Amino acid sequence: MTTWLITGASRGLGREIAEQALGRGDRVAATLRRPEQLDDLAEQYGDLLWRSRLDVTDTARVEEVVAKAFAEHERIDVVVSNAGFGVFGAAEDLSDAQVEQMIATNLTGSIQFARRVVPHLREQGGGVLVQLSSMGGHITFPGFAIYHATKWGIEGYFETLAAEVAPFGIKTVLVEPGRVRTSFYEAAERVPLSEPYRGGPADSPEAKVEDMVASQSGVAHATIEAALSEDPPLRLLLNSDAYEAVTTTVQDRLASLRRQRDSAYAADAEYTALGG
Ligand SMILES: NC(=O)c1ccc[n+]([C@@H]2O[C@H](COP(=O)([O-])OP(=O)(O)OC[C@H]3O[C@@H](n4cnc5c(N)ncnc54)[C@H](OP(=O)(O)O)[C@@H]3O)[C@@H](O)[C@H]2O)c1
Repeated sequence: MTTWLITGASRGLGREIAEQALGRGDRVAATLRRPEQLDDLAEQYGDLLWRSRLDVTDTARVEEVVAKAFAEHERIDVVVSNAGFGVFGAAEDLSDAQVEQMIATNLTGSIQFARRVVPHLREQGGGVLVQLSSMGGHITFPGFAIYHATKWGIEGYFETLAAEVAPFGIKTVLVEPGRVRTSFYEAAERVPLSEPYRGGPADSPEAKVEDMVASQSGVAHATIEAALSEDPPLRLLLNSDAYEAVTTTVQDRLASLRRQRDSAYAADAEYTALGG
């Protein structure tokens, strides 16, 4: 039987992964800010569901809950770092508190959680560490700068971590969905555009939930399949919108890099104002 540890399991992808895992007969250690949000699953699945209160921005509590989860389960096979949220608004218009809260949740929260989990996975001889990133960890949309900062940041952290922990039998997966029909867009904060930004790139119409191609269940299922596969990819890009946007952007970036070859090489040489 597989045992899962999940953050942000109250709703959206975290809850869906928990439900699908329980539906497979697996054991789930769910962490969330309000554990009572899973009362229905506790009633349905009894002892297969373990719950603990966790706000991922509380680093001391992250340490405590991770230690308790590993102490109370023989082994945790798959850890899913999922908690996160979005803020829409021009980069200049966000408040200090909005910038700090987003970084504390999506980036620092994920890093501190991973740092607490890795020693336990190492001690038990391995496991899988899944981090929810996004197509927004490869590409950017105006009006979403701070979200992209956290997802690009977590991509860099996990790519590095993956190489460091591979010798301990720890497999890491960055899940990169497109736009998924979860409660994410409802929950996202919206900062009204200040005058200079109205009508500009940050003033783009928001995608409507009904136009989003990706289903919550499909993304959760693909995440579970990848986590349980023999050789999961470091980056799991999901959904047709993400595939199209990311492949185009990465191809354009490579073409742009190739055009810079000569100037990149030329900068190796010592510079002297006289060219001598
Ligand atoms: N939906 C998309 O289009 C999409 C696309 C790409 C990536 N993602 C990523 O997928 C992950 C899950 O998002 P979702 O779409 O499932 O969104 P969601 O439906 O809004 O769910 C977000 C979850 O994160 C939790 N959360 C937020 N801040 C938290 C905190 N400080 N501590 C603990 N839990 C916290 C929420 O808990 P509460 O109920 O307590 O608020 C909720 O359980 C996120 O990392 C998101 O960036 C989503």
